[in-house]
Amino acid sequence: MRYSQMLIPTVKEVPADAEITSHQLMLRAGLIRKVASGTYTYLPLGWRSLKKIIAIVREEMDRAGALEILVPSMHPLELWDQTGRSGDYGPTMFRVEDRHGKWSVLGPTAEEVFTFHAAAEIQSYKQMPLNMYQISAKFRDEYRPRFGVIRSREFMMKDAYSFDADPKGLHQSYMAMYNAYCRVFKRCGLEYVIVEAESGEMGGSGSHQFTIPCDSGEDTIVYAEDGSYAANLEKAAVDPLPKQQGGGDIPAPENVHTPNVGSIEAVCAFLQTQPREMIKTLIFSSESGPVAALIRGDHEINPEKLTQVLGGGHVELADEATIQKVTGAKVGFAGPLELAGRVHKVIIDHAVAAMAVGVTGANKTDFHTKNVVPGRDFPLEGDNVVVTDVRNAAQGDTHDGKPLRFRKGIEVGQVFKLGTKYSTKLGATFLDENGIETPCLMGCYGIGINRIMASAIEQLNDANGIIWPISIAPFDVLITPVNQDEPDVVQTAEQIYRQLQDVGVEVLIDDRDLRGGIKFKDADLIGIPVRVTVGKKSVAEGNVEIKLRHQAESRKCPAAQAAQDVGQLVRSLKEQLRT
Ligand SMILES: Nc1ncnc2c1ncn2[C@@H]1O[C@H](COP(=O)(O)OP(=O)(O)O)[C@@H](O)[C@H]1O
Ligand SMILES: [Mg+2]
Repeated sequence: MRYSQMLIPTVKEVPADAEITSHQLMLRAGLIRKVASGTYTYLPLGWRSLKKIIAIVREEMDRAGALEILVPSMHPLELWDQTGRSGDYGPTMFRVEDRHGKWSVLGPTAEEVFTFHAAAEIQSYKQMPLNMYQISAKFRDEYRPRFGVIRSREFMMKDAYSFDADPKGLHQSYMAMYNAYCRVFKRCGLEYVIVEAESGEMGGSGSHQFTIPCDSGEDTIVYAEDGSYAANLEKAAVDPLPKQQGGGDIPAPENVHTPNVGSIEAVCAFLQTQPREMIKTLIFSSESGPVAALIRGDHEINPEKLTQVLGGGHVELADEATIQKVTGAKVGFAGPLELAGRVHKVIIDHAVAAMAVGVTGANKTDFHTKNVVPGRDFPLEGDNVVVTDVRNAAQGDTHDGKPLRFRKGIEVGQVFKLGTKYSTKLGATFLDENGIETPCLMGCYGIGINRIMASAIEQLNDANGIIWPISIAPFDVLITPVNQDEPDVVQTAEQIYRQLQDVGVEVLIDDRDLRGGIKFKDADLIGIPVRVTVGKKSVAEGNVEIKLRHQAESRKCPAAQAAQDVGQLVRSLKEQLRT
């Protein structure tokens, strides 16, 4: 391809609304353009790269035995009503009404539709394992689209769904996808971390996330330094803390007047104490009624863990009216004393149970209670009291005795064991070996295609621009004739261009009538991995320069041999990313 005939609108200035490097570079290198909030067009360079990612994902899915199909993006709302997910997804799901008043959803994912097909096509255990996938646009009305294509409202996802007759089969299907994912990310040139994840509202029994470590990631990876454990923050389980000493001679609880101080920070300032000395009482609404969760003032509640403790149903923070009814006080003054009788369940975090003494809300507007001793002043056991792990892991925590570390990351893929949640609700059953009707065991597996591209750039760049891994670069080679008005230079460059094209190397020639300096700046920005520079001086010596984008040094090569050397170089770079 000729640069002069391409559309590569590079930009010098850093775009104002682009917060992170990959977003800035994707705009500046002319890979994408924004159309509206959370929707982007891929320009030629961006689309070429995206197509390569799609090709890698497709090859690995096919190699793992998954079958590619294509389902509509518009799903009848009834299907989503049948699984209850039209409610669970809430406002994140786009809905459209047709001229006859019928509602559809723009698929944010496609468990329902794939299960619908499985229900119709699978009759016998002999038809399984079956794994079907598609690569298509997904739609999510994200509350806050951000970071360019990383959290957008329309994006490309590869989603696969497996159907098996028994748990062993499900495990095999799951591991086939897990291993295929490892190959995909390795081939895309990414450094990735696999973490245990919560299967959450997907329903199911196991999940892993594939995460690209980088500071701008929205997810938190929690890991033990020796590599023995890694989970995301939603899932990471922490050891109970050792019991603090000194609870024995604490005087009786005492209410103190704390007018208009509701937040932890305000109370601490007012009572001259620390968040870690406080017990936070949070009231939630669950399907069985209000529940209270107690965590230390410096900790964060973990909604996933809370949901698990309550058996998986829907849980949300209670509204003001409920909190007032339960505690008899305004929001901000809830406390554990005399609370167990007023709620369905009291869930106490290990770290609270380990406190010697703490400050709590008094269940009385404008009052807090000092000298509260867990176990003495409120029960740590009983019919509706549980002490367990319901908070996010924090600095200083351990897992199986190993200190936990924290790192930010971008989730690029996730695999789930779903079990029978969807198959039961949508009638995807089969006759087993004994002729008994049984629901299929399902797994589902997603990869964010656009996120692979953005996170590759997030991970591989320098001050001057993108450094593409060759497997997903828009072109393998960029040829830069430095002086467009020198016939020898142009001729040499054009010859190498033709020779490389002839052997199937994807090559871009910068034939624009511009100064070398401008061409080099653009070359660094768009980040093509192999560069051939054809300048007046070296051509006079019969040479050209070959340089890798990620290396500072270039090397001379006889012009006549350049195409062969470059072809070899391209092959060896690609070889390094094979699996
Ligand atoms: N808003 C989005 N924009 C771009 N990619 C997304 C978005 N939401 C999800 N993805 C990608 O799709 C993959 C599969 O989605 P899923 O696991 O269902 O998403 P989530 O964990 O956000 O619910 C994710 O791992 C991620 O790479
Ligand atoms: Mg996910």
